[in-house]
Amino acid sequence: MEDLKKHYEPKNFSDKVALSFTKFLRFLADTFFKKRYGHRAVVLETVAAVPGMVAGMLLHLKSLRKMEDDKGWIKTLLDEAENERMHLMTFIHVAKPTLIERVIIMIAQFIFIITYAIIYLISQRTAHRIVGYFEEEAVISYTEYLHELENGTIPDEPAPEVAINYWNLPLHATLKDVVRVIRDDEAGHRDVNHNFATVIDNRIKSKKYNELKEYNLNKKNISQEKDKEWKKN
Ligand SMILES: [Fe+2]
Ligand SMILES: [Fe+2]
Repeated sequence: MEDLKKHYEPKNFSDKVALSFTKFLRFLADTFFKKRYGHRAVVLETVAAVPGMVAGMLLHLKSLRKMEDDKGWIKTLLDEAENERMHLMTFIHVAKPTLIERVIIMIAQFIFIITYAIIYLISQRTAHRIVGYFEEEAVISYTEYLHELENGTIPDEPAPEVAINYWNLPLHATLKDVVRVIRDDEAGHRDVNHNFATVIDNRIKSKKYNELKEYNLNKKNISQEKDKEWKKN
């Protein structure tokens, strides 16, 4: 249960930007979908499957350009994109998007691919932090969805076959079981992306620290040389 409420407290400007961006999009989603959780899941999963693919592609190209190992990041990100796509393949059997939602999906994909790629190129850590926060919200939304299913406000139904096969669920599994495993996936993506952002953050900090150390060392050497020169004269 604790794991479901996990929240990464913003520690710097980049984190704050990521959190504000996420809260803004959450507000838009809440206003538009209200309690239509099935439709919400379909539309938002079409967006959720984008960052992993964009980030994976950009890191793949970077690895080629710099001839550097990616330390397993590309595979993790591409797996995330595939997992999110399977969430969509599942929910499409639960709710059919309306015409207006289909238009929103197309516009959102176009805008989000470009926006996320730009954010990733400008600040990789902000981009991963954004996904970390998106996934925190996804965990909250799926918890709310699950409560509605448990209360009976939304009628439960047999799990779609695609979900039973993908998550290896029992044949009598229902939508409640599906929402639970999907929520676990989202919690996993949340932790991975927050960790990626923290790793990059630490890299930046240690680079700055080394630069400062080098600068102070050079300053000391210069002053020692000047000292020697002064003594000679
Ligand atoms: Fe998802
Ligand atoms: Fe997700």
